[in-house]
Amino acid sequence: CGIVGYIGQKNTKEILLEGLKELEYRGYDSAGIAVLSNGVFNSFKATGKLVNLEEKTKDFTTDKFAVGIGHTRWATHGKPTELNAHPHVGQNSYVVHNGIIENYAELKKELVNDGVTFLSQTDTEVIVHQFEKNLKNSTNTLEAFKKTISELEGAYAILLVTKGEKDKIFFAKQGSPMLVGINDENEKYFASSDTPLIGHATEVNYFEDGDYGYVSSEEIVIYDKNGKKKEPRFVKLDTNKLSAQKDGYRFFMEKEIYEQSSVIADTLLGRVTEKEVIFEELDSQLFDGINEIKLCACGTSYHAALTASYMFERYSKVKTSVEIASEFRYREPIMTADTLFVVISQSGETADTLETLKMAKNAGLKTLVICNVDNSSMVRLADATILTRAGVEKGVASTKAFATQVTVFWMLSLYLAQLKQSLMQESIEKQLELLRSIPACVKVEESMHERIKRLSKRYLHGHGFFFIGRDIFFPLALEGALKLKEISYLHAEGYPSGEMKHGPIALADPELFTIALLPEHLLYEKSRSNVEELSARDSTICAISPIEFDKADDFIETKNQKDYMLEFFEMMVAVQLLSLEISVRLGNDVDMPRNLAKSVTVE
Ligand code: G6P
Repeated sequence: CGIVGYIGQKNTKEILLEGLKELEYRGYDSAGIAVLSNGVFNSFKATGKLVNLEEKTKDFTTDKFAVGIGHTRWATHGKPTELNAHPHVGQNSYVVHNGIIENYAELKKELVNDGVTFLSQTDTEVIVHQFEKNLKNSTNTLEAFKKTISELEGAYAILLVTKGEKDKIFFAKQGSPMLVGINDENEKYFASSDTPLIGHATEVNYFEDGDYGYVSSEEIVIYDKNGKKKEPRFVKLDTNKLSAQKDGYRFFMEKEIYEQSSVIADTLLGRVTEKEVIFEELDSQLFDGINEIKLCACGTSYHAALTASYMFERYSKVKTSVEIASEFRYREPIMTADTLFVVISQSGETADTLETLKMAKNAGLKTLVICNVDNSSMVRLADATILTRAGVEKGVASTKAFATQVTVFWMLSLYLAQLKQSLMQESIEKQLELLRSIPACVKVEESMHERIKRLSKRYLHGHGFFFIGRDIFFPLALEGALKLKEISYLHAEGYPSGEMKHGPIALADPELFTIALLPEHLLYEKSRSNVEELSARDSTICAISPIEFDKADDFIETKNQKDYMLEFFEMMVAVQLLSLEISVRLGNDVDMPRNLAKSVTVE
């Protein structure tokens, strides 16, 4: 979910809606705003995309001083209906919230016993009622707010406005990201990330966990988790993150696939010479005493991590393991000080991944984050950061972020190989040359795109897809299947080619579509035999390979690359385009697929 807030003289509605537009990628199943001006509240909510809220509020304007809060939702508790959309209302107050209140059921029970009527099924609504209950027993609004916060368990970023305090927004942050921005015009802006503030605020303060307080046009009052007053720490707002446009492409995802060549060139910039990999942002001491690397992430970033694990063992000769963040959190993992803990995240905000980073820090491990968003929560927390430089990624189905993550990992595995001298200089130089050719190899060939467009019409039905590959092509198969699931809503699985015979082959029939990754330079014969086994059982085969394969029903031809790593990047583009075109033919919303959000800041 995304939240925004505004205090100032300008058109509050416009500012809130504009801010929500920038945050819509965080959730888009409903949205709402509440504006308090001259002692009068106006609140609007709508289900679906933000345009519906824009339509509903088109006759509403504010041109005087006002305070306002807004929210765009990715449903956790309660269906995406209008009643469940934020802001949630009490008798005299409105609240927006990002996160999950874990003890909401208990609080709700008590409130219901007290005679409070709930309008929604959300966890959030308890906040506003609990606050009003506490306010009844207090003469001080901040005290009542503070008490309320102390009664909540879980993760939250909260904004609350109340009639008795016409010029204030109360806030609290625990686990979910939030910042406040200021400018010379005496305006105050709140948001879940800094992009909505670009062009409005000049300086921002990122709240830390445990922070709460209020903001008015005159002051910013912050208390820390121990109730101690603290000064805001303002930093200049980075204005380089201009919001992305489609630039003539049909979808952001399509544009982002086409952009991969130039963003990977940016990722490599200044980091790869003919002789070595340089990471100016890293202190090589980070790797002192490290015998193992643990990679932790969610979704697509997890697939990049899996790919990395092959490279760290193969090139750097460092023992590596990979974890899904939501699993790692609760399985009482053993963490030893000789392990470098690496989190991977496009957004730097994914709640599960962020929590594992905190766990590793608390256990005294050295930490590194591979991230696309500077100043994000993970970047601020980790000991070291490598930015992927993919630029703003708008499509919910991640493409260029993945491509740059894998690029960074390839570089990092060579950087470590240099440090540990696990590869001969000659081999390193060969690898560096390959690295420099990724931008050329991910350039989208019109002929390939056209071929995939035509071919996609044969893959709109069936009872499922298997993307299969070996070695690093297995994580790529997982990623290909995830892309397809996300935007086509068809069932797809990624599987190691050699594992199909141990169960899934039972599914083989003409309605089972196998997308076979068959690189020339890595286990070609073995992978090919696995595909033949499927073909013999009548599965419909689409081979992605530079070598024509007579047992395939369809063939997406890749170029003859020098190395399997380059084949990886070219095949990555092929599977991305295949998902895109299947989704387009099915008439789905490619950039904002149903039920998903770009950044999931709840666990
Ligand atoms: C969400 C997105 C995925 C993404 C995952 C992890 O589920 O829909 O595309 O891979 O979060 O996001 P992160 O920002 O941590 O890479």
